[in-house]
Amino acid sequence: MVYLLILSGHQKYKMKKVKVHSPGTVANIVCGFDILGLALSEPYDVMEVMLLDRPEVIIHNRDIFNLPTEAEENVAGVVLLSVMERMNNTIGFEVTVEKHIKPGSGIGSSAASAAGAAVAANYLLGNIFSSDEVVQFAMNGEKLASGVKHADNIAPCILGGISLIRSIHPLDIVSIPAPDLFVTVVHPQIEVRTSDARQILKQQVLLKDAIKQWGNIAGLVTGFMKNDYDLIGRSLEDVIIEPVRSILIPGFDELKVKCKEAGALGGGISGSGPSVFMLSKDESTAKAVGHVMSQVYEQIGIDYNIYVTTINRKGVEVVSSE
Ligand code: HSE
Repeated sequence: MVYLLILSGHQKYKMKKVKVHSPGTVANIVCGFDILGLALSEPYDVMEVMLLDRPEVIIHNRDIFNLPTEAEENVAGVVLLSVMERMNNTIGFEVTVEKHIKPGSGIGSSAASAAGAAVAANYLLGNIFSSDEVVQFAMNGEKLASGVKHADNIAPCILGGISLIRSIHPLDIVSIPAPDLFVTVVHPQIEVRTSDARQILKQQVLLKDAIKQWGNIAGLVTGFMKNDYDLIGRSLEDVIIEPVRSILIPGFDELKVKCKEAGALGGGISGSGPSVFMLSKDESTAKAVGHVMSQVYEQIGIDYNIYVTTINRKGVEVVSSE
């Protein structure tokens, strides 16, 4: 006797629910505008994604940020809609987002939502998509958030470590090995929208500035690969974007000088700001840098959060599934 087993789209998948941790990221790493980024061990968002047997994306927010719950207007929502469409609308998703990375902080809040959704969806579908495809899905979220498909937060968020986005069209992502580094991040409690921080940038660059920037990018990547801390420190310089954007960040110049005096290798604006990050060789220096950061913002009178953390090597992590 021949038994014919007909499985609906949904039934053929083993896992129905997955919980992921999706980390914050530092895009640009000072001189690599839109092409370099690193993942942070903290903070991270917690997301639970469930597979549905109908083409629908349902969003629940379990935090205080009041982000939209309409799938088309939500960063995780548009990512899940794009996966659903690729699956010919045979499935859907229900997602619960618990954000710990404050939107508009400059440490990859939208990328964490987008990357977490894309990795979770792929996991539920049996990891049928390559990591480049997962990045492509997640970039739909960045497009919604900032108007541009950039991957310098998305790639390290998904892959962990440090990523070089050599090209977006076609997508070419290179993981850069790096020594263990400590990252101190200060988030002054003001909001800088990525779209605004992109609009104020000059569209033309002087050749002499471009030459300096190329030297720094090459130096930074080489420094990471050769574990050359001095070279990393010397190369953490941005002559193109930082002079324009730093005016949006109170205390920026003082912060940089004092953090370096405290022993930081160097640092600058995290993504489009307002967060500022510094890299240090060891934890005690990273903590001292955090202390200096808090002194600067106490003096200015702006509330702030500080994270003393490390480079996250794993990227989005599946913590449970059923
Ligand atoms: N590379 C992007 C920018 C990152 O600086 O605008 C935004 O987080």
